[in-house]
Amino acid sequence: MEIARTRAELDALTGPARAQGMIIGYVPTMGALHDGHLSLVRMAREEADLVGVSVFVNPTQFAPHEDFDAYPRQEEHDLSLLEREGAAFVFLPSRDELYADGYESAVAPGPAAEGLESDFRPHFFGGVVNVVYRLFSAVRPDIAVFGEKDFQQLQVIKEMVAAQGLPIRIAGGPIVRDAHGLALSSRNAYLSPEELRVARTLNQVLYDAASSIRNGEAPDYVCAGAAQSLVDHGFASVDYVAERWDRVLAAAWLGKTRLIDNVPAI
Ligand code: PAJ
Repeated sequence: MEIARTRAELDALTGPARAQGMIIGYVPTMGALHDGHLSLVRMAREEADLVGVSVFVNPTQFAPHEDFDAYPRQEEHDLSLLEREGAAFVFLPSRDELYADGYESAVAPGPAAEGLESDFRPHFFGGVVNVVYRLFSAVRPDIAVFGEKDFQQLQVIKEMVAAQGLPIRIAGGPIVRDAHGLALSSRNAYLSPEELRVARTLNQVLYDAASSIRNGEAPDYVCAGAAQSLVDHGFASVDYVAERWDRVLAAAWLGKTRLIDNVPAI
């Protein structure tokens, strides 16, 4: 497994493979890797000849009051997981490598970014599309894999790639959950044992809401009931429970930790 910290190092790694017509697969991450991330690497390996992963905690998608400084960083462990998973290269750019221009040449997120996450994290998708656009221009993959865990993000990326006419196929990987159904997340590490117990009710509330919607109940009514149910289970507050893209999606708080999840509604 090779490490690249600059675009030039990356080009030296991917150039010969590209010249031979190899398919390059790519999984962007912010590190603190778990089996959810690694499942995307496996998916990319099935579809590509050479798979690269980036680890970059992107400052532009965090608001000043959010957890950028506290976000878990464990580079050595991440690298050993990726090596074991058969990644061919890892891109570890510095902030200056990606944002040499500051943050001026911005790509704007499209309509998929409206509502849901944006109502609570208005800066978020601007940061995500910009970093992903920059990462794509550095890695130049044929295929990039994103998790359905961040379902709105997946839609926003697909829209950005279509709008910019990038020759990259975007694939979505299913959500990897623990034995209790909790979607794996780097932020789960923040949860106390009691918060973890409450967190594990989130997926069941969403599955129940999805099944009510399938049974013909009005989505708005069902989602409002699900939001109340999360509070009853011990969530401190609920940012949203909503139906969109045939999914029921939610974001809710446990102490200082914000969790998101979604399940199919059809
Ligand atoms: P990060 O939160 O590290 O997630 C990287 C990728 O892993 C995303 O595509 C995310 O949806 C996926 N993922 C996370 N948990 C998952 C799970 N339990 N099951 C399946 N996939 C999961 O998302 C980001 O980073 C950033 O916004 C990024 C796209 C890298 C831009 O900075």
